[in-house]
Amino acid sequence: MTALSPLVELDPDAVRDPAGVYEQLRERGVHHAPEIDAFVVARHDDVVRVLRDGRTFSSRNTVGRVLPPADPSNPRPPLSPLLLLSDDPEHAQRRSIVNRAFTPSKIAAWEPQIRQVAEEHVDRLGDLGEVDLVRDLAALLPIRVVSLVLGVPLRDVTRFREWSEEITASVGNHGGDPVRREQVQDAFSSYISLLLDQWDGTVDARVLSQIAAAERAGELTRTQCVSFVAELLVAGNITTTHHIASSIALLGSTPGLLDRLRSDPRLVQPFVEESLRLEAPIQGFYRLAMADAEIGGVPIPEGSRVFVLYGSANRDPQVWEDCPHLRLDRPNAAAHLAFGKGAHACIGSSLARLEGRVVVEVLLDRLETLELLAVPADLPYLASFVNHGPVSLPARVRLRGSVPAQEVGS
Ligand code: HEM
Repeated sequence: MTALSPLVELDPDAVRDPAGVYEQLRERGVHHAPEIDAFVVARHDDVVRVLRDGRTFSSRNTVGRVLPPADPSNPRPPLSPLLLLSDDPEHAQRRSIVNRAFTPSKIAAWEPQIRQVAEEHVDRLGDLGEVDLVRDLAALLPIRVVSLVLGVPLRDVTRFREWSEEITASVGNHGGDPVRREQVQDAFSSYISLLLDQWDGTVDARVLSQIAAAERAGELTRTQCVSFVAELLVAGNITTTHHIASSIALLGSTPGLLDRLRSDPRLVQPFVEESLRLEAPIQGFYRLAMADAEIGGVPIPEGSRVFVLYGSANRDPQVWEDCPHLRLDRPNAAAHLAFGKGAHACIGSSLARLEGRVVVEVLLDRLETLELLAVPADLPYLASFVNHGPVSLPARVRLRGSVPAQEVGS
């Protein structure tokens, strides 16, 4: 039993609120945790050091294991992330292709359409009475937004979501049903291929148009194009769902917060940053030491696995004054590591931040009241120590101008 055990054993209290575990891990410094056979890195400065040194700390095992090399004789190799698990020089070259579509200014241009999608979904809550704000909102928005930004037609979003869910469950999961995986992958690949074939040659804000142009320029094969789209879906969906859900949980459980944000909308962006800092949707990822190294004075032998905890770095009192508390006046509000750091820092961070801000703004605008029907300590969280977020948020909401059900006809 070590400090990390409650998380590795998925103790529901530790998974929901890992702050106590992280405090012990930071106090202890870098050490080897036998439960995950990895050196645990929990202090902010040490996490940054590892993330900035991609030459020593490879990304090939970011998700915890190294995927087997592609088998050239397999006509349908499993979809595998092109960015997340690659190192330079391939990583830098591939990333430059999609970077063009994810610059802050390109992403900012999507704001009116993202707001429209958020308004549509929030307004629909009014008809539902008691709602689950994960099922009825947080789980629905990200796929709509990713589809929009990719350039997937609205009529196809439902099946796109189904594929996305199945691919998320199966990427790199060689234990899943191989027949089903191949069926989903074939359907998804044919669909993306169709969209690429229909490309009219115009490069615009839609990510698919950038990918299609890269294919035409010989920078990507067709399989790589499909893998790129799958990676964006997998990396962008559950993370953003968890971020929206955690933000709503904070909004509904922090006394006075809704009123404060309503009275000064400039505080919404600092709130988004604080929700990312405190409830990082990805709490940690792995790296692989490619040479003998040292972190925080501790020797790390070549070949060791290293587990870097963004979630713990975000609560390091060396960096964050009054670190357990949500504060809207932090000078270093955006310096959290929820999006990682260095070469692999999240490519979708501008999109996730925009989406997070717009959803909160729409909720502030449309909601008369937000009443969570469970206290934070009773909310069920995803059983994972990597992904972090509530899986259900039962609530009663009342939209502005709507009549509560019991008053109708009275
Ligand atoms: C709140 C939402 C999000 C969070 C918290 C998040 C978090 C992260 C983190 C921590 C990494 C770094 C991985 C590493 O250190 O190895 C990452 C990478 C990545 N993210 Fe996000 N992400 C979010 C949303 C998105 C969105 C919306 C997209 C795209 C539509 C996206 C696409 C990616 C991709 C492709 C990578 C791999 C980048 C690379 O390896 O170069 N993410 N994300």
